[in-house]
Amino acid sequence: TTKIIMDTDPGIDDAAALTMAINDPSIDLKLITTVAGNVTVDKTTINAQKIVRFFNANIPVAAGAEQPLFKDFEDAARIHGESGMPGYDFPTDLPKPLDKTAVEALHDEIMASDEPITLVPTGSYTNIALLFSEYPEVKSHIERIVAMGGALGKGNMTSAAEFNVFTDPDAAAIVYKSGIPIVMVGLDITMKALLTHDSIEELPKISETGKMLHDIIINDGDNNSNGIAMHDVNTIFYLLHPEAITTEDMWIDVVTTGAAIGETVGDIRGAYHDGKTNAKVSVDIDAAAFNKWFLEEVRAIKN
Ligand code: BDR
Ligand code: CA
Repeated sequence: TTKIIMDTDPGIDDAAALTMAINDPSIDLKLITTVAGNVTVDKTTINAQKIVRFFNANIPVAAGAEQPLFKDFEDAARIHGESGMPGYDFPTDLPKPLDKTAVEALHDEIMASDEPITLVPTGSYTNIALLFSEYPEVKSHIERIVAMGGALGKGNMTSAAEFNVFTDPDAAAIVYKSGIPIVMVGLDITMKALLTHDSIEELPKISETGKMLHDIIINDGDNNSNGIAMHDVNTIFYLLHPEAITTEDMWIDVVTTGAAIGETVGDIRGAYHDGKTNAKVSVDIDAAAFNKWFLEEVRAIKN
């Protein structure tokens, strides 16, 4: 099994990614930390707890950063709704979040682990940047970071920037300079592997879990005629099926000022960094395999 920690801002696609990570037997989800992003951190924390409670999973949740390192916070409630996870009546008797911050919880979990941990951020990278500056010793205990965010091609906030990196570009710059192996799971693949309307219609027929996912996914404001992007779920798909995703090694720089703020610039010719690389950048995906896997994952969940 792969030991992971998810740092997340649920969020509709985050909720689906958590669903897969909590239930897939090949993944050992040790901790969930939350961050402001799609909605405020008090809401992303409640949403993470709702998913944990839905599955009666015994996974701790720790609340993290309320705002980016320097930039002003802007949410994405126009896509994910005011609550961040609308459309389904979750149980209301939620577990309590940990009595420590996300940074403390990340530090304690990473240092206590007998094996290196894979970090899976699916929101902005504020907590992780704070972790690295407060506790640089954790870096050697992290195997790699498989992060949703960024784009070589077109952004979804500006023509240059993807939402997670745009939300906290200074944090993203710190993460890309950390020296830890990074897999960039960006819009170049997540906009290709849309969950089709056929797949979405299949979900409620499978189980209560399928119904829950269906009921929240159909509220995604980015719904188009070909399907709905499940951005964050692609990180879990990559962990389990790397063969379905093509990556290229390159250097990624993050733009932190100006009109292209939040852009992830790939040194595709190896021209600016002497051929050195800091990331595996996902550039292509088998969209049909993604859809098939998504439904299989849901079918394998008992409730
Ligand atoms: C990313 O932005 C958020 O709205 C999604 O949850 C995903 O993490 C896609 O750009
Ligand atoms: Ca997210």
